[in-house]
Amino acid sequence: MNPISLLFPYKLGALPLRNRMVMAPMTRCRAGEGNVPGPLTVTYYTQRATAGLIVSEGSQVSPQGVGFSRTPGIHSAEQVAGWKKVTAAVHQAGGRIFLQLWHVGRMSHPDYLGGELPVAPSAVPVGEEMHTLLGKKMIPTPRALTESEITGVVLQFGLAAKHAKEAGFDGVEIHGANGYLLDQFQRDGSNRRTDAYGGSRENRMRFPLEVVDAVVDVWGPARVGYRITPHFSVHGMSDSDTAGTFSGLVTELDQRGIGYIHLIEAIGGRMGVTDPDARLAPMIRSKYNGTLILNGGYGRESGNEVIESGLADLVSFGVPYLANPDLPERFERNAPLNQEDISTFYAGEEKGYTDYPALS
Ligand SMILES: Cc1cc2nc3c(=O)[nH]c(=O)nc-3n(C[C@H](O)[C@H](O)[C@H](O)COP(=O)(O)O)c2cc1C
Repeated sequence: MNPISLLFPYKLGALPLRNRMVMAPMTRCRAGEGNVPGPLTVTYYTQRATAGLIVSEGSQVSPQGVGFSRTPGIHSAEQVAGWKKVTAAVHQAGGRIFLQLWHVGRMSHPDYLGGELPVAPSAVPVGEEMHTLLGKKMIPTPRALTESEITGVVLQFGLAAKHAKEAGFDGVEIHGANGYLLDQFQRDGSNRRTDAYGGSRENRMRFPLEVVDAVVDVWGPARVGYRITPHFSVHGMSDSDTAGTFSGLVTELDQRGIGYIHLIEAIGGRMGVTDPDARLAPMIRSKYNGTLILNGGYGRESGNEVIESGLADLVSFGVPYLANPDLPERFERNAPLNQEDISTFYAGEEKGYTDYPALS
């Protein structure tokens, strides 16, 4: 076995990546006033620029798409200017960076939305509490989007994709995962609509695919990725036919020729372990001809193995990247990893963000 398959170069379409290690998107709640990424964020991503590809933290496409404090947006001129500094510094360091386009849908609270209710495909409650600006609160039952509002959200994704281009990103990843708005439409536990956006599998895919088409119009398919978590069952998520739902989506994404699918099917770590019999990666591999990125609990050995087995083209690392700015070098030298500090994952400033040491 070649011990460093993860470090072999790769071509994502026409975009050369220096290795097969992707930094997974991670919300870090450190944006400044106006949800603008600031100088610390420039440092954080630049420290991690030796990744083959960085996928940024989820960045809301509109003020309505926010569900955490201090997450960066991609809807204002100030946010675009803030991100420009990040992409310039990452490029200067020889890295590649995609922006993750995000709308949380019902995973929000009026405290974040100027008193308005969060929106969703249907008025189905999440049944969980969340952190708001004023402490932990129950997530209210959302309001169902009207058809014309859905068109509006598609336009917001298209505009956000344009902003990402202006900001100098190499591409964008559509956040279709983790129980946020696109996932809420996709799955029948949260989508109870009876119009063209609900009911059949085709109808439930309509909104996510309209988003894909709007984003592809801006970027071309090769620079667009799509993230999915078929087995995700928190945030009130469920589906009566997970394999059917996702095989339909993957077929459509393949027909559109999008650059990659980013699949979370955890083999360990904080996301638990996906039942090996339920894993969809082999089905996705057979239906989808683009680049497949796998995520969830991977490390040096398991990452190498999954690439060598042919199941994945690239592997993404979340927590290992958060705590180890020089992860490829550590893997190359088989060096020990820094221990992550969970208390600083979603809040703070430098500590637990830009102060994890690199190897000397
Ligand atoms: C602090 C933190 C923030 C995260 N934020 C996001 C996010 O913004 N978008 C997303 O798609 N996934 C997010 N995730 C999930 C990670 O991308 C990844 O799927 C998860 O950490 C599992 O990978 P790992 O085992 O390599 O850490 C987040 C995870 C962590 C730990």
